Amino acid sequence: MQKPLTPEQFQHQLIHWQQQHGRHDLPWQTDPTPYRVLVSEIMLQQTQVATVIPYFENWMQHFPQVSDLASASEDEVMRHWQGLGYYSRARNLRKAAQFIMDEYQGEFPSDPGSLLKIPGVGRYTAGAIASFAFNQYGPIVDGNVKRIFCRFFEIDGVPNTSRVDKQLWQLAEDYTPHQQNRTFAQGLLDLGATVCKPKQPGCDVCCLQESCLALRHERVHELPTPKPKKVIPVRPGQFLWIEQPDKLLLEKRAEDGIWGALWCLPEIHLQPEQLGEHARLKGQFKHTFTHYKLEASIWRIDSWSETESKYQWVDKQEVFNLGLPTPIKKFLLRHLT
Ligand code: ADE
Repeated sequence: MQKPLTPEQFQHQLIHWQQQHGRHDLPWQTDPTPYRVLVSEIMLQQTQVATVIPYFENWMQHFPQVSDLASASEDEVMRHWQGLGYYSRARNLRKAAQFIMDEYQGEFPSDPGSLLKIPGVGRYTAGAIASFAFNQYGPIVDGNVKRIFCRFFEIDGVPNTSRVDKQLWQLAEDYTPHQQNRTFAQGLLDLGATVCKPKQPGCDVCCLQESCLALRHERVHELPTPKPKKVIPVRPGQFLWIEQPDKLLLEKRAEDGIWGALWCLPEIHLQPEQLGEHARLKGQFKHTFTHYKLEASIWRIDSWSETESKYQWVDKQEVFNLGLPTPIKKFLLRHLT
């Protein structure tokens, strides 16, 4: 019966593997300043590497330094995030940049306690900045790490429940080294992404195969314990299409809530029957969010007396220079002539 690896053995195996077989050419790995690490980690939170790469490169062209992001307008920031989804990330990133300028004159702190105070920075991102930017001790637990640890240590129970989450963070604290943190953290993410994959894991090439408890007990495919399937509700949404020959009426959405701070067709909180006879259905689309499915109907009406400042007539030529939610953008691309 093999003993489980000590933290030192685990670190040694993973670091050695990362150097030989890990990824070394991701754009945020060159010049890993705290600002570049923050931006990439926030982008990578809910989005795949291949999707993030062009956004990251474009972002760094437009906002090369934290000071550039801090002084940009919200509209400009949203425009460069357009298409990545989960837009509160972009608003928080701008606030984080302003916070770093105001509190630290543009120089990021490196201690975890201070990093955690940055808007939008949680335990994972704080650990990632410590590891990747400062090459210092910084435990990280993301989806990759959860999968590796649940299998390697044969942890039952759904990750994200507080019991399992606590256990995973404890292991991360205990198994994270105090040197070579950049390579170690990258090793965890690389092993999770390229070997310890959700489906078809490459156990036969894994650097941890000899001590993996799930592999030993033939439970790799059962772990991590899957989340119970949630049924997400459907919510109808009513949007308006009101145009002049060269202009379209748009709404800048409130900061909170979905599509916050993005430009959108005006949404009304009425039942379709309450719209009146003059409303004509122009089109429909569906979009799935994490918590519900939106079934949107777009109604054409001829005039509109609303004068709230969130509604603005926008030149049709200018519409695509605004930050638009992807399904709205697609709809406009099909319908705006
Ligand atoms: N996923 C989250 N952070 C990452 C990183 N720094 N490199 C690759 N994939 C990641």
